Amino acid sequence: MWSKFLEAVILSGCLTQLTHAQSLPAPVTSGYSQTDLDRLWQSVEQGGVPVVKANVTRVLEPLANFSVGPEPPRFRPAYLQATTQNIELPKGFLYGVSTAATQVEGAVKEGGRGPSNWDWGCHNNITVCNNEVPDVTVNEYYQYKQDIQRVKAMGVNAFSFSIAWARILPFGHRGSPVSEEGLQFYDNFIDELLKNGIEPVATLFHWDTPLNLMSQYGAFLNNSIVEDFDNYASIAFQRYGKKVKTWFTFNEPHVYCDQYAAYPYNSLYTGGINATTAPYTCVPNLIKAHAVAVQTYRGLISEGKIAKGKIALKHDGQRPIPFDSNSASDREVVERRADIYIGIFSQPIYVDGNYPKRVLDTIPASILRRFTDDEKKIIKGSADFYAIDSYATIVAKTPPNGIEACASNVNDPNWPICQDISDNVSQYSTQSGWAVGAAADPLSPWLADTSQWLRYQLNWLTKTYPTPGGIYISEFGFAEPYEYLRTENYQLAWDERRSNYLLDYLNAALLAIHEDKIDLRGMLIWTPIDNFEWNLATQQKFGLQHVNHSTPGLDRTYKLSFFQVRDFFKQHLVG
Ligand SMILES: *[C@@H]1O[C@H](CO)[C@@H](O)[C@H](O)[C@H]1NC(C)=O
Ligand SMILES: *[C@@H]1O[C@H](CO)[C@@H](O)[C@H](O)[C@H]1NC(C)=O
Ligand SMILES: *[C@@H]1O[C@H](CO)[C@@H](O)[C@H](O)[C@H]1NC(C)=O
Ligand SMILES: *[C@@H]1O[C@H](CO)[C@@H](O)[C@H](O)[C@H]1NC(C)=O
Ligand SMILES: *[C@@H]1O[C@H](CO)[C@@H](O)[C@H](O)[C@H]1NC(C)=O
Ligand SMILES: *[C@@H]1O[C@H](CO)[C@@H](O)[C@H](O)[C@H]1NC(C)=O
Ligand SMILES: *[C@@H]1O[C@H](CO)[C@@H](O)[C@H](O)[C@H]1NC(C)=O
Repeated sequence: MWSKFLEAVILSGCLTQLTHAQSLPAPVTSGYSQTDLDRLWQSVEQGGVPVVKANVTRVLEPLANFSVGPEPPRFRPAYLQATTQNIELPKGFLYGVSTAATQVEGAVKEGGRGPSNWDWGCHNNITVCNNEVPDVTVNEYYQYKQDIQRVKAMGVNAFSFSIAWARILPFGHRGSPVSEEGLQFYDNFIDELLKNGIEPVATLFHWDTPLNLMSQYGAFLNNSIVEDFDNYASIAFQRYGKKVKTWFTFNEPHVYCDQYAAYPYNSLYTGGINATTAPYTCVPNLIKAHAVAVQTYRGLISEGKIAKGKIALKHDGQRPIPFDSNSASDREVVERRADIYIGIFSQPIYVDGNYPKRVLDTIPASILRRFTDDEKKIIKGSADFYAIDSYATIVAKTPPNGIEACASNVNDPNWPICQDISDNVSQYSTQSGWAVGAAADPLSPWLADTSQWLRYQLNWLTKTYPTPGGIYISEFGFAEPYEYLRTENYQLAWDERRSNYLLDYLNAALLAIHEDKIDLRGMLIWTPIDNFEWNLATQQKFGLQHVNHSTPGLDRTYKLSFFQVRDFFKQHLVG
């Protein structure tokens, strides 16, 4: 999920208050004993919050008497779908849901798993996590079979999940021990999907950085990460590459690299890196880690060691619309946001191995390392298709001091994009003052139902970053306003605005395919179940199912949106 929360924390200056706190544990760089692992976990628990276990700690089998329960009443009148009702999705269209390990797995200390930055940060109240910890979340580690059964009832043909690096390599490093129990968990998970006719889609890295790599060299602040990521990726490819045929290396690289502006990463800065520049130290290291892992993947395929499959990364962000379309300056901010937010990752990979011109002109080489010619060669073309987590479109406005003054001053709060983000200006449109769309929950002020702009996004992306593999929407979803205030099941289940968002969005996608001839090949909905939503933890809900945390089995209940999506695909998906 794309979160503007951290950006808000950084910009509001909260950062400096957070720099004290506990330091990271001393890294483990050899030996790698159980005592070493225990010591890493002690640093997670040092703040006095021990890791807790779920009530359910054995794998639950699917229910023999499973049923989706009573159908909801009619929700939207049929005439609303009139323009799209006879449009079919292309054959082989990927229809599924999306999750991430930290947000759903739980069982963090089980099966020999090592701690991640999120375990350490939330437990020590260093990372803002709504005073919660990701120890149990929705306990998918033990409840995945029933969860797959529940999702199958939606008719999905794909399930996108992420692998926790520290579950496979508790210490993270190349040469450190590999946890067979960790590997086995994902084997079981993948097998359960395949048994149910659901294609597994695996993401290698969805923000859960092994704590030990943070301690040793600051993770993506150091190019040692390239080798360690490649080692991890290679282990995953070899283990699962016969069964998993669609891979993502990274989830939302921009949001991830932006996290390097905040604690605890800022305690790791060396050599003149600071909060402004750290994200741009991360960028080339992440792109190179991606490209090298893709090389490894393709090598394994050509050696016949794994099945032929496809690989890319999940981009994030959007091309905004101008606040005032008559303003040349606002229109330029649109391009800056598109190039500097998305293009910084997409252009090297899909176009020419290099950053967009606006990036090169704004961010000096001393801050954003330039790629060598050899690096450009392996980066260019290092993806088989395009994928984007595309939640919503925002509005771009020129900052009060103008683009030039901002772009030439590294310490300007809007540098380097130079988009005015004060006063929630990204959420209302043009001089008229109208909102860009129906707002999501106020805890996610960046999100609105802006499906009227989906075709604009898809047209621009496919034109700017063309690829023969087509485009996938690897995440989209919605936070129902004030859902956490609802207490009764009949209220919780009636997620009308989420349902509207999903149907509006899906119908816009149909038109993009049918009228704009966009080569859209799949859509993955965030998310099948309310989860641990990073900084907002269980408070912010994006799920098609509710979880009752007061029950020992963390009982799941379907919401209205689950049925709406199921019925949409029943109507439009062909064999
Ligand atoms: C299914 O069976 C379990 C016991 O095995 C029971 O607790 C549950 O209520 C049953 N569910 C339905 C939908 O009948
Ligand atoms: C965690 O830190 C926040 C401030 O960053 C504070 O408001 C909160 O009370 C702290 N929680 C605990 C359990 O110490
Ligand atoms: C990267 O990490 C290695 C290993 O810890 C260290 O020797 C090296 O100095 C670091 N490089 C930078 C640029 O910080
Ligand atoms: C951060 O580093 C950059 C590049 O060295 C420098 O221009 C800038 O002034 C620094 N920012 C702060 C707040 O120190
Ligand atoms: C921006 O949005 C947040 C969240 O809805 C709200 O609390 C805040 O008052 C808004 N700020 C402005 C200036 O409108
Ligand atoms: C959650 O479970 C508790 C305990 O069984 C129950 O009292 C409560 O009504 C449930 N809440 C919902 C929304 O179902
Ligand atoms: C265990 O179940 C009880 C309800 O019986 C619940 O209150 C508690 O939060 C559960 N513990 C965990 C870790 O989920």
